[in-house]
Amino acid sequence: MANAWFESVAEAQRRAKKRLPKGVYGALVAGSERGLTLEDNLAAFAEVGFAPHTAGLANERNMGVTVMGQSMSMPVLISPTGVQAVHPDGEVAVARAAAARGVAMGLSSFASKPIEDVVAANPQTFFQMYWVGTREEMLARMERARKAGAVGLIATLDWSFAYGRDWGSPFIPEKIDFEAARRYAPQVLVKPRWLLDFARTGTIPDLTVPNMVANPGDPAPTFFGAYGMWNASPMPSWEDVAWLREQWDGPFMLKGVMRVDDAKRAVDAGVTAVSVSNHGGNNLDGTPASVRALPAVAEAVGDQIEVLLDGGIRRGGDVAKALALGAKAVLIGRAYLWGLAANGQAGVENVLDLLRDGLGSAMVGLGRPNVSDLSRDDLVVPADFERQLGSAAVDNALLGTSPARRRREA
Ligand SMILES: Cc1cc2nc3c(=O)[nH]c(=O)nc-3n(C[C@H](O)[C@H](O)[C@H](O)COP(=O)(O)O)c2cc1C
Repeated sequence: MANAWFESVAEAQRRAKKRLPKGVYGALVAGSERGLTLEDNLAAFAEVGFAPHTAGLANERNMGVTVMGQSMSMPVLISPTGVQAVHPDGEVAVARAAAARGVAMGLSSFASKPIEDVVAANPQTFFQMYWVGTREEMLARMERARKAGAVGLIATLDWSFAYGRDWGSPFIPEKIDFEAARRYAPQVLVKPRWLLDFARTGTIPDLTVPNMVANPGDPAPTFFGAYGMWNASPMPSWEDVAWLREQWDGPFMLKGVMRVDDAKRAVDAGVTAVSVSNHGGNNLDGTPASVRALPAVAEAVGDQIEVLLDGGIRRGGDVAKALALGAKAVLIGRAYLWGLAANGQAGVENVLDLLRDGLGSAMVGLGRPNVSDLSRDDLVVPADFERQLGSAAVDNALLGTSPARRRREA
């Protein structure tokens, strides 16, 4: 048998492409419209260079970090992704891999596995929610996550229901029924190994979202059913963000912040952390790479809350660059999805090991024994690299009167 280990995330992606049915692979590539943001997330990391030292280097590579109260072996977290049918063990395999490597797991509310199983595989699990349904329904989902043992909440709000990709969207069935099987058959029959993985478990991907219901085991909506509910929900205000934050008694991240003014509003709403993110290029196409927006956000709020970054991380050197530009840690999306598709849990561990080794090499070369020592002095940043989105002066009319703000002003 060929060696299942791979030496780069690019190789994991090649293997994922070979192994997955075309539609499932296309769902992971994702992106929107022209793919400008998707591309810029990668291009931006390539624009930043390193300024390595020659001698006087350190052997230590101290990567430990605490994020949202969780101590982790390195500054890399699993970003929540609502993706179905990549692997029969799905998010449970990802959670096991993350636990084996000492990193925290973000679980999407659109994921394929129940939160109870994911927390059992990795107690360092954060539950991610979109603004879907009524407040009561959201409270019920949060309550379930709390009971299951989630150690933090991630609210993702950067979604504007854009659709249409110039390279075409995959056909994703509502559920696997006869019609879906007929349409999927040509793609699936040429990918026997993927089919065999599911056949071995005696299941077929059912494309439901079990974490959208209040109790484990309740009948769950399909992925598209839940997407429809989301689309029909009123868009949340900053007051709603503050409300959501108040309902969760523990660390809370707002994911998808790109603008300096929004980062300040997030601080005002009482968040523990933000992730500077454009949803991996899947939201509004033409949004700049998240790493370009990172320095301005870190500068504005980094002394008050934890600032993380996600989007475009494909190697350990990218992690080093993000940290040097002001992130406390990064989240990864596609990198681990390619690993999961290529080789299940071991593939995700493989990806985490590559990121750790690459980060370690950067630390050695830059003469930085501790991740917290990485700084801009270690980088070569082109003059026009950064983008500050939004102004540092916050328009309070937009902010509303959040409970946190009212308390502060009382
Ligand atoms: C296929 C796919 C599904 C995603 N689903 C979710 C989701 O359900 N919730 C969420 O907060 N982010 C979701 N994201 C965004 C990721 O959490 C993350 O922000 C993004 O993947 C980071 O970019 P990267 O893939 O370049 O690492 C998804 C991303 C992809 C690629």
